[in-house]
Amino acid sequence: MPRNTTVRKPDVSAPQDSRPATAPAVSLKDVAVRFRTKDRDVTALTDVGLEVPMGEFVAIVGPSGCGKSTLLKLVAGLLQPSSGDVLLSGERVQGPRHDIGYVFQRAALLEWRSARRNILLQAEMRKMPAEPARRRVDELIAMTGLRGFEDSLPHELSGGMQQRVALCRALLHEPPVLLMDEPFGALDALTREQMNTELNRIWRETGTTVLLVTHSISEACYLADRVVVMSARPGTITEIIEVGLPAERDYTETMGRPEFREATTHIRGLLGAASAAD
Ligand SMILES: Nc1ncnc2c1ncn2[C@@H]1O[C@H](COP(=O)(O)OP(=O)(O)OP(=O)(O)O)[C@@H](O)[C@H]1O
Ligand SMILES: [Mg+2]
Repeated sequence: MPRNTTVRKPDVSAPQDSRPATAPAVSLKDVAVRFRTKDRDVTALTDVGLEVPMGEFVAIVGPSGCGKSTLLKLVAGLLQPSSGDVLLSGERVQGPRHDIGYVFQRAALLEWRSARRNILLQAEMRKMPAEPARRRVDELIAMTGLRGFEDSLPHELSGGMQQRVALCRALLHEPPVLLMDEPFGALDALTREQMNTELNRIWRETGTTVLLVTHSISEACYLADRVVVMSARPGTITEIIEVGLPAERDYTETMGRPEFREATTHIRGLLGAASAAD
């Protein structure tokens, strides 16, 4: 569903019992995560509260080890909080969720499968009807500029193309929530910029809710409606910054906008030069 170009404000005032119409896509309430290993206990997250309305793009930045991946795993149901609640569309997450899309730092493609068959893996695992799945794969391949490379094996694709295949695979079942954990960290600057532009367009076209973990402040501010800044371990939310840019963003033009510069400078200040990657 196409979105308009105004910035949507999160509706944090929605009453608790108003689901499903107004329930946030993702909600974390007073979440803490403690890991118990044989030599020590680690508090990875503490006091985390976040509401993400449907269709919003939220970026998460913070120093290494502050619990960003842990937060995504909670939303995906791969991990249970030690205390607090994690909800998707108002429903408590109680186990691995199959209705979300997850893009990892590395594309994690099967080397012996073509680009098309790597994307179709999602359909096979979910036992989706073959014909609609094939049609959707064609649409996604066109949307991500992979046409002509459908039959290539992963090693015949560039890093950016491999990430696009991983993105198509994560989007195949049209997940209402897309989780991305540093998906572009391994790409060169130019490819990363192209992937950012593409992700902005895909987000606008699909209307999916996105949680993106990144070490790049500029990537966070270019892509997101709001940027969540986390503190060092035990990770908690220091501040949530509303970027205040229209949904449709030209890359170069955005970099020069005062709202963008203000947001990046502010976040850089919060994180401190030592923990900022760019
Ligand atoms: N399964 C686990 N068992 C024990 N400790 C863990 C486990 N998973 C994560 N941790 C610890 O929790 C903390 C947060 O880890 P997490 O991977 O969420 O950090 P991160 O913010 O994603 O870091 P990075 O930016 O380096 O990816 C770290 O101190 C880590 O050692
Ligand atoms: Mg991580």
